[in-house]
Amino acid sequence: MDPEQLRARRARIESAWGGLRGPVVIPSGLPVPVEGTDQFHDFHAHNEHYYLAGTQLTGSVLAFDPREGWTLFAPVADEDERIWTGDSEPLDAIAGRAALERVRGTAALRGWLEAHRGEPLALLGSTDILHHPAGYAMPSLRTLELEVDGERSSRLAAVIAEARRAKDGDELAKMREAARQSVAGHLLALRTARAGMTERRLQVELEAEFFRHGAARTAYGSIVGTGPNGAVLHFSPTQRELRDGDIVLIDAAGEHEGYAADVTRTFPVGPRFTGIQRDLYELVLATQERAIAKARPGKEYRELHLEAAEQIAAGLVDLGILRGAPQDLVERDAHALFFPHGLGHMLGLATHDAGGCLAGRAPSDRFGLKWLRADLPLQPGYVVTIEPGIYFVRAILEDPARRERYRDDVAWERVDELLDFGGIRIEDDVLITPDGAEVLTAALPKSAAAIEALRQEAQPA
Ligand code: GLY
Ligand code: MN
Repeated sequence: MDPEQLRARRARIESAWGGLRGPVVIPSGLPVPVEGTDQFHDFHAHNEHYYLAGTQLTGSVLAFDPREGWTLFAPVADEDERIWTGDSEPLDAIAGRAALERVRGTAALRGWLEAHRGEPLALLGSTDILHHPAGYAMPSLRTLELEVDGERSSRLAAVIAEARRAKDGDELAKMREAARQSVAGHLLALRTARAGMTERRLQVELEAEFFRHGAARTAYGSIVGTGPNGAVLHFSPTQRELRDGDIVLIDAAGEHEGYAADVTRTFPVGPRFTGIQRDLYELVLATQERAIAKARPGKEYRELHLEAAEQIAAGLVDLGILRGAPQDLVERDAHALFFPHGLGHMLGLATHDAGGCLAGRAPSDRFGLKWLRADLPLQPGYVVTIEPGIYFVRAILEDPARRERYRDDVAWERVDELLDFGGIRIEDDVLITPDGAEVLTAALPKSAAAIEALRQEAQPA
């Protein structure tokens, strides 16, 4: 990580925190055991820790003292650890990577905290230090006569979430790389998915391509759904085979040095979209392209979502699936019967990144808005996904109460014919620039013609 940018990041946070009194600790987290075994889940350092320390070490603590500045406490391997998992990184090497003057072994954390006895302690990052202090070579905070100030901790964490919205150069370089790796995986899937292949096999090929292009891991659980499975928003791939005539929805991406991409494409198993598949694909694509064209500094993300909802409602009216005036349908959440999620979300260290809602804005409980994960005016440097979709979800469409409520708004006999259709989603990662937006995943085709050209390559000779 670029040392200057890391220092600048910490300086920005320090000044946004204002005249602090008392210490702040930001643990990275401890490895999470797989219950009942001696194994551990894949380790993810807490993003607040990684954002400010630039390191992903287990059981380390970034600490801030308003009088002396930042110190990183990092674990030093004991003999057993050296035998089984290897040496720990030397503290001076960690200091170089973290661009910090003070890096000490975790054994020194206890003394550092004792020196702050009686002061209000802010705890950010992982809270596992409260339950497993021994993992940080410490007795409990209570034993040390320290108490966490919850209100202050939340206030300081909110400052970090806000700072993480606009990505700096180092972050954008990593996100561009994650996007490149992800595009490569999707291209491979578009070129090679064939009837008879299982969802799981396609997942394996796609992920292998992310890794071959340098991804450290997948940014989230890959979603590969064919036929009706495409309607399950976060579907886990199964042994179901791809069948000619079905469509496949793939929502999957790589993670690069902690930064996520998030990409969805939907394509036919055969060489072409047919009938209603093509109509709905063109509608989702036009909605996505218009939302991207309107994304610019100052634009409220919620407005983008509502405009997309209205465009989908209008398209479904034209296709004879909804009935009525698009604006009224959206006000009554009828569009959400087919587009039940938000237009997208902030993207960065997490797939659904921090800082999505402006302070004071709470998620709505309206069916058409409750999954809107971003509600803020866009600003340069923000990276958001734009991912409209249309699905035939049995859990929604077979609900008798909804059938009654939307009796006159929906052509239910047409819907009944489409209950096994699945779903279509098209998702790109969009960087807001000073005068508009740049699509970080633009190298991945999405016009129906371009998708079909790639699908030709995949067909058996
Ligand atoms: N990629 C999954 C999601 O955005 O929820
Ligand atoms: Mn997404």
